[in-house]
Amino acid sequence: MIKYGFIGTGNMAQAMIKGLLGKGVSANNIAVSSPRSAAKLTEKWGVISLSAQKLIDESSLIVLAFLPNQLENVTAKLDFQDKLVVSVLAGITLEQLISATHTTQIVRTLPNVNVAINQGVTAFSKTELTTTNSTTFKIFSDYLGSSVVLAESQFAIFSAVAGSGPAYVFKYIDALAQAGIANGLEAKLATDIATQTVLGSAKTLALSTQTAKELQNAVTSPGGSTRAGLDDFDTHNFDDVIAHAIKATVEHKHL
Ligand SMILES: NC(=O)c1ccc[n+]([C@@H]2O[C@H](COP(=O)([O-])OP(=O)(O)OC[C@H]3O[C@@H](n4cnc5c(N)ncnc54)[C@H](OP(=O)(O)O)[C@@H]3O)[C@@H](O)[C@H]2O)c1
Repeated sequence: MIKYGFIGTGNMAQAMIKGLLGKGVSANNIAVSSPRSAAKLTEKWGVISLSAQKLIDESSLIVLAFLPNQLENVTAKLDFQDKLVVSVLAGITLEQLISATHTTQIVRTLPNVNVAINQGVTAFSKTELTTTNSTTFKIFSDYLGSSVVLAESQFAIFSAVAGSGPAYVFKYIDALAQAGIANGLEAKLATDIATQTVLGSAKTLALSTQTAKELQNAVTSPGGSTRAGLDDFDTHNFDDVIAHAIKATVEHKHL
């Protein structure tokens, strides 16, 4: 029995597959199905390309990873039997998933792109009828990063913070690097320095028992240059800028 079957093989499925392969999951334990790119993944990674129904028949966990508006179209003729189905479809509720797949063995998740390097954070929600399956947690926690169980009502804010968050962190790194460049650093060096600073600071925080605010104070001497910079952030309402952008993300209506 193949362990993981992916219906839809775009950016998110490929990020997840890359993460699984990176953790030593065999390509023989990964099946893929999609109209065009599945065959290319067989060439690229040696994963098994199958029709969607055959993939369901032969896999123990099925990941739905096509676009949300394709749900009805893709699932119409498929029989999911009692297999565990994991959806990564943004904005699609458990109720919609049950109605389209005719199974209650379903988990709604929202991973982010960092699953490709086993550093993702994935939100989960399942129905009361979904039999808890440790494999689901294993794939997202042990292989792809970490996972959090969330109420469906919190998926929108999770999506803004964790799903869109990487883009916002890249924006911050770019701004930090651009400021370095504007003050005389060579472009690549400035980007490398800014990237490593964010990486190291995130690790320091992750390994610390202190909060982000406590660490902020711990590295800031009263009257020093870092204090001057933080005061300038406050003058320009940095926290409000972030809060405003997250609100815009949450309130954005998909076309
Ligand atoms: N990208 C992210 O950061 C992210 C984060 C969280 C959740 N998600 C969710 O992940 C899902 C996929 O997003 P994505 O960014 O990976 O999209 P994508 O790159 O556009 O990929 C969409 C995939 O759907 C496949 N597909 C189209 N018609 C199909 C069919 N009839 N049967 C099976 N597969 C079919 C396409 O196959 P072909 O390549 O063969 O045409 C393609 O591989 C979405 O529901 C999205 O909400 C994405």
